Amino acid sequence: MTQFSIVVPTLNESENIDLLLTRIFALDFASDSFEIIVVDDGSADGTQDKVRNWANQSSVRLIERREAPDLTASILTGVAAAKNDVIVVMDADLSHPPEQLRALVAPILENSHDVVVGSRYIAGGSTENWPLYRQFLSRVGGWIARPICDVNDVTSGFFAFRRSLAKNISSHAHGYKILLELLMANQGRIRVTEIPICFRDRTHGTSKLSLFHQQAYIQRLITLAGGTATLNTAGRFAAVGLLGVLIDAFVFHWMISREAGLALSHFVSFFIAATVNYTFNSKWAFREHHEGYLRWHQFGRFLTVGALALLLRGGVLAFLVYVWHVPPLLAIFPAIVTTAAVNYLGSAFYVFPNKKTP
Ligand code: GDD
Repeated sequence: MTQFSIVVPTLNESENIDLLLTRIFALDFASDSFEIIVVDDGSADGTQDKVRNWANQSSVRLIERREAPDLTASILTGVAAAKNDVIVVMDADLSHPPEQLRALVAPILENSHDVVVGSRYIAGGSTENWPLYRQFLSRVGGWIARPICDVNDVTSGFFAFRRSLAKNISSHAHGYKILLELLMANQGRIRVTEIPICFRDRTHGTSKLSLFHQQAYIQRLITLAGGTATLNTAGRFAAVGLLGVLIDAFVFHWMISREAGLALSHFVSFFIAATVNYTFNSKWAFREHHEGYLRWHQFGRFLTVGALALLLRGGVLAFLVYVWHVPPLLAIFPAIVTTAAVNYLGSAFYVFPNKKTP
């Protein structure tokens, strides 16, 4: 009776797969206590033939996907085909130590936990021979996820979990963030622990992590955190903001020329510009996130964010001019950038948050 299934996603890993399988089968597990499912995404280097050789004589299975290559989709395909309720996911490139498999599955087999993460970033964990920029990206990827996910190594690709948890993973999940998706989809219902591992960078083949995967990771974090910040909403928000500046200046100018008081002109021009901005943002920039909302409530939030951003702008300006002695004509630029950023993030996370299933 097997106890756990190891899912190994592969894309051009012919130089590594034999070494990995040899190391796993050298462990002192009973030969029938686990199965290995290799999910290949159309490798062109002979990886599949190497796996087939193993499949003929041991508990190794090969699944060949025909769809567009995707790490998360491959892992989920392997999970769906697994015979066991305990699943381990690990890379094929020997960066994850097979010798830690026992420690990884034990807490689940003993029923003390539901997810166990092989972590580089807790006491006893480490990375070896990993280029500095990759360490940096991995650290930053972990830090920015911390506000929504309380795990030290959320980008780890070496982890074990109960198979039933995979069915809650969003259909929007793709790429290199399956652990994050698994944890977020089951948040509050699972017992999670981390065990230290030493991650050694591959010595054969190349990483498949691209800029696209990194950008997709950040975008997904924003969505999971309930935000609607995207390049699209940012571009439109900026265009609406520029229109608002013009309207603000025009109304202010007109009122002053009609001899209205300074405070009244300032307030009225701000209010009219904010109303126009809100209308364009809700009907255009954040259109998808507007429907179904109580509009006055949303408009109130929009004005609150605008007023806070204005106060902050004054604070930044005063700090730069009076404390750092920056000339006012220069100091206004960082002050404007700060206001714009606060306005946009306030809109994307507070005024027009994501109410759809992430
Ligand atoms: N089937 C399939 N399809 N496998 C893939 C794909 C894909 O589109 N892309 C990558 N893989 C496989 C690789 O063949 C390897 O076995 C594993 O996924 C990890 O891919 P790498 O591209 O080598 O990842 P890395 O070394 O840069 O490591 C980073 O991502 C890993 C994802 O598991 C690190 O952040 C690791 O910590 C993380 O484990």
